[in-house]
Amino acid sequence: MGQLEGKTALVTGGALGIGLAVATRFAREGARVILADRNGEGAAAAAAGIGENARAVTMDISNEDAVAAAFAELEAAGWAPDVVVANAGVQLFGQDAPAADLDLDVWRRTIDINLTGTFLTVKHALRSMVPRGGGSIILTGSPTAVNGEGKDFTAYSASKAGMHGLGRTVAAAYADKGIRVNTVQPAYTETPLVAAISEDPESRAAIISRIPIGRAGTPDDVAGIMVYLASDDGAFATGATFQVDGGMTSL
Ligand SMILES: NC(=O)c1ccc[n+]([C@@H]2O[C@H](COP(=O)([O-])OP(=O)(O)OC[C@H]3O[C@@H](n4cnc5c(N)ncnc54)[C@H](O)[C@@H]3O)[C@@H](O)[C@H]2O)c1
Repeated sequence: MGQLEGKTALVTGGALGIGLAVATRFAREGARVILADRNGEGAAAAAAGIGENARAVTMDISNEDAVAAAFAELEAAGWAPDVVVANAGVQLFGQDAPAADLDLDVWRRTIDINLTGTFLTVKHALRSMVPRGGGSIILTGSPTAVNGEGKDFTAYSASKAGMHGLGRTVAAAYADKGIRVNTVQPAYTETPLVAAISEDPESRAAIISRIPIGRAGTPDDVAGIMVYLASDDGAFATGATFQVDGGMTSL
């Protein structure tokens, strides 16, 4: 029997990368999964690839009406989630920059999706979960939130630091309502998000040299800890950050 039998999980940014790997693994562990993405076609194709226990919903996390409508649609269909992975995010390579050179528009677009979008996902997850007695919320954080790893990416790093703070605040506020909130912190993980690094041998070697385990992460490296946090095995874990970063921030 899978570890997530009987659970329904929504994963934002589920069309690609880490979100797709997590949703695929959740389904293998017996969960029904919802791939929520602003790329509705990509999410639908990914859901079809997973099978009948998966469905897709088109949702831009930075648009509150779209987030609220998606949760309402799922509730009406009997797919209200017990687990929400707030994973969707952007990193604006070529635009994000050290602070003195950073355009306000790039700052706003990044914060709007990564921080405000995560807040909106969490807000509507709570509204759905609290009346049903609880649930597990998992955020995808970043080493850039906790050290100087993202020094050339001011907006991205600040958005991720905000997410880590949001996770702790919401965990504290809702612990007595059966809601657990945890953050998973992957290191450099080869997905379409970081193509600007992985397609440039020098940048790739430089970032891997800062990971003590000596390799890039894969989306599957992140999936296992998320299964634990989504499952009843993680029942006593809340407000925590789980590093899956090859030792990047702990060694
Ligand atoms: N790849 C890495 O090295 C790495 C490292 C640490 C943290 N992360 C974080 O992991 C998460 C997933 O990253 P990834 O590498 O899988 O990225 P990705 O670009 O491969 O996939 C991101 C997905 O999110 C979706 N998305 C983007 N903006 C959205 C929005 N406004 N609403 C809904 N969906 C939206 C995209 O359409 C895409 O399907 C992000 O939060 C990222 O910051 C990634």
